[in-house]
Amino acid sequence: MTVATGTTAGNRTAGGAVGTAHTRLEGRAKVTGAARYAGEVPFAELAHGQLVVSTVARGRITAVETDAVLAMPGVLDVLHHGNAPRLNGDYAGMLGKADPLLQVFQHERVPHVGWPVALVLAETPEQAREAADALVVRYATDPHDVAFSETHPAAYGSDAETGGTAETEQALASSAVVVDARYTTPEEHHHPMEPHAAMARWDGGRLEVVDTNQGSTFVADELAKLFSLDAESVRVRSEHVGGAFGAKATRPHVVLAAMAATVLNRPVRVVLTRRQLFSLVGYRSPTVQRVRLGADADGRLRALDHQAYCATSSFREFIERSADFGRVMYGPDAYRAQNHVVPLDVPTPSFMRAPGEAPGSFALECAVDELAEKCGIDPIELRSRNEPEAGVVSGLPFSSRNLLACFEEGARRFGWAERDPRPGVRREGRWLLGTGTAAARFPSGVAPSTAAVTAEADGTFTVRITAADVGTGARTALALVAADALEVATERVRIRIADSDFGPAMVAGGSMGTRSWAWAVIEAVQALREKLALGGTVPPQGLTARADTGASIGALSQKERHSFGAQFAEVAVDVSTGEVRVRRMLGMFAAGKIVNPLTARSQFLGGMIWGLSMALHEEAVRDGATGGHVGADLAGYHIAAHADIPQLEAGWVDDVDEDDPVGIKGIGEIGIVGSAAAVANAVWHATGVRHRDLPIRPDRVL
Ligand code: MOS
Repeated sequence: MTVATGTTAGNRTAGGAVGTAHTRLEGRAKVTGAARYAGEVPFAELAHGQLVVSTVARGRITAVETDAVLAMPGVLDVLHHGNAPRLNGDYAGMLGKADPLLQVFQHERVPHVGWPVALVLAETPEQAREAADALVVRYATDPHDVAFSETHPAAYGSDAETGGTAETEQALASSAVVVDARYTTPEEHHHPMEPHAAMARWDGGRLEVVDTNQGSTFVADELAKLFSLDAESVRVRSEHVGGAFGAKATRPHVVLAAMAATVLNRPVRVVLTRRQLFSLVGYRSPTVQRVRLGADADGRLRALDHQAYCATSSFREFIERSADFGRVMYGPDAYRAQNHVVPLDVPTPSFMRAPGEAPGSFALECAVDELAEKCGIDPIELRSRNEPEAGVVSGLPFSSRNLLACFEEGARRFGWAERDPRPGVRREGRWLLGTGTAAARFPSGVAPSTAAVTAEADGTFTVRITAADVGTGARTALALVAADALEVATERVRIRIADSDFGPAMVAGGSMGTRSWAWAVIEAVQALREKLALGGTVPPQGLTARADTGASIGALSQKERHSFGAQFAEVAVDVSTGEVRVRRMLGMFAAGKIVNPLTARSQFLGGMIWGLSMALHEEAVRDGATGGHVGADLAGYHIAAHADIPQLEAGWVDDVDEDDPVGIKGIGEIGIVGSAAAVANAVWHATGVRHRDLPIRPDRVL
């Protein structure tokens, strides 16, 4: 066979698949149940592990009473700190030094409610669960502290503050208009439909793992380090993933499965319960944010000060970087921002969709709306008067910045021009009506990845890359990218993903997955074209070319690279009950080349729905007495249901990253950014009252 050579070496691909709607390649398998998730793949001789977690918030384990449980039907073993194999804790993982949460059963200390204390192994999941429920663990408790506040004595500035204090205070003092407001967001959780599950077994001297995660090479690497194995001795696969959102990094379930498989010398599966997800897979810290804006009477910003506080655990620092949101949004004369952290006896927070930007945009974009009100200027006009030439902190130019184009097109589609700016004046029966808007931004990044492309003897092509499709349609997006690069129909491209044996690749995270993987696929196709142009003929077993994008990504110029967006919302507020109903939302985005409009739209809408849910519903309540959650399940943790979701629309303006081979910027997270602020600003417009504490519950509205 021959492959056309030629036009893909430059910027942009040539075929035309990219940019056209395509249903998910695995869609049929998913809806028919043929697609197997990590907890469903059958294995012979499979044993089941049920995790037991601490019921106390701080202290140490004094006894694990295993005798009674070991006598129960089907029980094989109980692992705990007194008998578990030792793990290596001295290594650098994806986020620096080893995560103490992954050091399961290595000591008797308990740093928070829901800490792993024992794993009951049995022949069936039911037997494991019954025995786990029966296991008695005794503790010596210490006083705990789970009360988050910005005045907590342990609060510390997590990093050097950006910008000058004196300069900012001076600019604020000489501003004609000042907004000084305190915003709060509660603890929030990301719960994928598919809970965390992993199967591990030893197979011919290799540890083989079937997991649900966002990046199989990273999980494989971490397991190799934890168990002191050669990197080649671990294989992790994660073919179908039922949602991730940052929750599916390397989490304790996979370490437990590997540990148990080693001890029992047979395959073991561990599936976390919904309740266990509340303490073992990360979450979004609560935040308190003080935003001060100073402006001239015409709305020109003189000062922007954003001080954000979040919580972390007593044993690992994770910072919800809310204060960073304003770094490239506006061009104040003086800018100051800092993130502060309060260590508490709580689980370690982690990445949750748009970490930092989601709560940070709520505070800053509400404050900007308040400033517009005080100045008597339309909030879109106020933003346009404060467009920066360059990043406020970095001074770097933007790769492209189409924020105002998003506002213009969004305002047109939403009907913003007809808006009466006065709050609290539109009434429809018992409903007060209002509209609001907010800006969105999320960084556009790319990370080195490897990929291989094989020209098969039958004229098809197989792409192999350790990408993860966490439900976003990444597999399909890569097929479109590969088809264009190869200049063949999408049907001739086969995409194999999520197998650590394919080599290192970026995780599905940071809105960087598709961009990073597409780049590697394009370079692998280029390498294949070169092989074929050099006279390579396709042997029966196929001809393969590989690429590693480390060099080309390392050569990228320094710029402020971001996706931008404009969010719009219309709400109705029931004056008799305080209930807020969102009537419609529109998000317009400038987020680089859109690879698959069908799944991209879903991705944007998913983020916007989450923002609505954040604005009105979500709130994990921690009980001070026990240190645990009140209602740690999807009944107690209130999320937006279908009935809460109105007419939603997402669109995009032309935007490409000129330095990216496809023009991609990344769309994973920006949908949620600014959406809660748009809803909150609409609630103000409806009622005339500012709601600065999320969620905007009926009792707060009344
Ligand atoms: Mo995400 S919070 O980029 O996994």
